[in-house]
Amino acid sequence: MDGEDNMIVITTPTGTIGQQVLEKLLNSGETIRVIARDPSRLPTRTREQVEVVQGSHSDSAVVDRAFEGADSVFWVVPPDFQTKNFETRYVEFVRPACEAFKNRGVKRVVAVSALGRGWPKPAGLVSASVAMDDLIASTGVGFRALTMPSFMDNFLRQVEPIKNQGMFFSPMSGDRKAPTCATRDIAAVATKLLLDSSWSGSGNVPVLGPEDLSFNEMAQMISEVLGRPVRFQQIPFEAFKARLIESGASESMATGMVDMMVAKNEGLDNMEPRTAESTTPTSFRQWCEEVLKPAVLR
Ligand SMILES: NC(=O)c1ccc[n+]([C@@H]2O[C@H](COP(=O)([O-])OP(=O)(O)OC[C@H]3O[C@@H](n4cnc5c(N)ncnc54)[C@H](OP(=O)(O)O)[C@@H]3O)[C@@H](O)[C@H]2O)c1
Repeated sequence: MDGEDNMIVITTPTGTIGQQVLEKLLNSGETIRVIARDPSRLPTRTREQVEVVQGSHSDSAVVDRAFEGADSVFWVVPPDFQTKNFETRYVEFVRPACEAFKNRGVKRVVAVSALGRGWPKPAGLVSASVAMDDLIASTGVGFRALTMPSFMDNFLRQVEPIKNQGMFFSPMSGDRKAPTCATRDIAAVATKLLLDSSWSGSGNVPVLGPEDLSFNEMAQMISEVLGRPVRFQQIPFEAFKARLIESGASESMATGMVDMMVAKNEGLDNMEPRTAESTTPTSFRQWCEEVLKPAVLR
């Protein structure tokens, strides 16, 4: 984009954000390398256009190979619902990559992180993400942490109750307005940074979507888009935790999720002042029309 040849490495190329970043970069003219545990999960056409390093990006031999000659890296720590220790999960996952950033002379890293730096209390998974950002920044690599509120795409986990009960659930208050963003906007911001070789140093890039909304307002929009009533139901934190454990989360992961939701309910996602740069285009209504509605009707 800026006239120099860039080699860009993409982690989680089959993940929600990673696959959208990869799709956007395929026609950029840059050399693209992906790290994939199972390359057969990539579309055949994609596999033909990229270099593939097979393995997990938590493995030091894999990242050492993958980062050879790399200018920029798109970095995501995948969620692990079975983790025994959510507090160290992000830092331990990124540690081998941090060594490889230094050893291989990677110039820039763009990572998926979360809003919440400076929150005065432990905030579960958010605090774990912020610790990951600190470790990456400490390597001296050029670094941008994309800092996000909860994703609109999280609603896809509640397609069944929306469809069958006309309800969705959270331990958050239904009236708290907060930003929310679509993963397509995160991918667009990441892609722009990966194609830009002019930046250095480290910093946060908030991705806040176009407006702050409460769950009650979202319920209204979902109802209008689906043409049937859908309401929000607040549930106690203990019930939220029990549901997570029932659906396979470890005790530690469930605790990390609860601590994060407590902080969000107290205003963690409202800490970042909205600016023109942090405001991204996809509205919740548009996302419901284009993503949630087809998933509910399927
Ligand atoms: N959801 C939110 O509201 C929110 C808000 C802020 C930040 N975040 C952050 O967003 C990130 C998740 O992004 P996402 O939704 O794009 O992720 P995702 O879709 O859940 O990513 C799954 C990807 O990770 C890969 N993967 C899973 N386990 C792996 C392992 N052990 N080693 C290597 N690869 C592995 C999967 O590849 P395979 O094909 O090999 O399975 C797949 O590509 C998390 O770091 C989370 O903290 C989320």
